[in-house]
Amino acid sequence: MPEQAILVIGATGKSGRRVVNRLRAERLPVRAAARNGEHRFDWTDSGTWDAALEGARSVYIVQLDGTKLVRPFVERAVTHGVRRIVLASGRGIDDPGYANDSGGTLEGLLDSEAAVRESGLEWTISRPGWFAQNFSEGFFADAVRAGELRLPAGDGAASFVDAEDIAAVVVAALTKDGHAGQTYELSGPRAVTLAEAAATISEAAGREVRYVPLSVEDYVAELVRQGLSPTDAAAFADVVEPLRKGRDAYVSDGVQRALARPPRSFAEFAESTAAAGAWSA
Ligand SMILES: NC(=O)c1ccc[n+]([C@@H]2O[C@H](COP(=O)([O-])OP(=O)(O)OC[C@H]3O[C@@H](n4cnc5c(N)ncnc54)[C@H](OP(=O)(O)O)[C@@H]3O)[C@@H](O)[C@H]2O)c1
Repeated sequence: MPEQAILVIGATGKSGRRVVNRLRAERLPVRAAARNGEHRFDWTDSGTWDAALEGARSVYIVQLDGTKLVRPFVERAVTHGVRRIVLASGRGIDDPGYANDSGGTLEGLLDSEAAVRESGLEWTISRPGWFAQNFSEGFFADAVRAGELRLPAGDGAASFVDAEDIAAVVVAALTKDGHAGQTYELSGPRAVTLAEAAATISEAAGREVRYVPLSVEDYVAELVRQGLSPTDAAAFADVVEPLRKGRDAYVSDGVQRALARPPRSFAEFAESTAAAGAWSA
């Protein structure tokens, strides 16, 4: 890999894939790493770390939630001469009331942020709220395609952020000066309820998607009937809890601060996603 190459970990995921595409569009040298990526990298196999880091000068890190592997990985990166790190984190991780952290995700993200800040490298932290792409390639995608979003989210809202904006911020931090030492909290321009999100997607996709609010108990029971263990079903309910409580409804200025432009709206996300055929039958 050439000098100044950029390592992207989580290169097949929602943010990493878009980061890779944007870097390549700028003709920058990229190592796209994941277990099933162009370059094989596995967080749980530290024997794959050195080959990923060799020759890299900048790294975008999407971590394995529920672990504390970023700290040893960053130490390894320092020995390889990496100079700049951009870490994927999340909004709300330092708010003790944000969510029930049964999987240790928030604790892991906090440790990763501390490791990056203490690394002595140039660092930038991306802290997005709920991704709009959860409706098209994440948690809610299958339900949207089936036409019915059955969730214990009440009339809660979130300021969903478009992963294209996340990727644009990450690429700016990886490739331009002026972002070192910044923690960018990222959101869309306003809060959107689940009912509004379903209506916006329905209009963009040209077919009906309904939001059906469920109680937590009914949601967990449905998931268990679908074959999930009670523990996993409860963990999914925990993930939705911040939505129900409106904890992600606030708007953050990270996109504006990093890119000097406003974030994309949920309607823009829905229109471009529908145009790309993500919700076609
Ligand atoms: N989704 C949201 O709304 C949201 C909001 C705020 C923060 N976050 C945080 O953002 C991060 C997720 O980012 P994302 O949505 O861009 O990713 P993502 O779409 O969840 O994709 C995860 C990426 O990690 C790779 N991966 C999974 N297990 C791996 C392993 N053992 N070793 C190496 N690579 C592995 C996957 O590829 P392979 O399977 O090929 O390895 C994939 O490229 C998480 O830390 C999450 O907590 C998410």
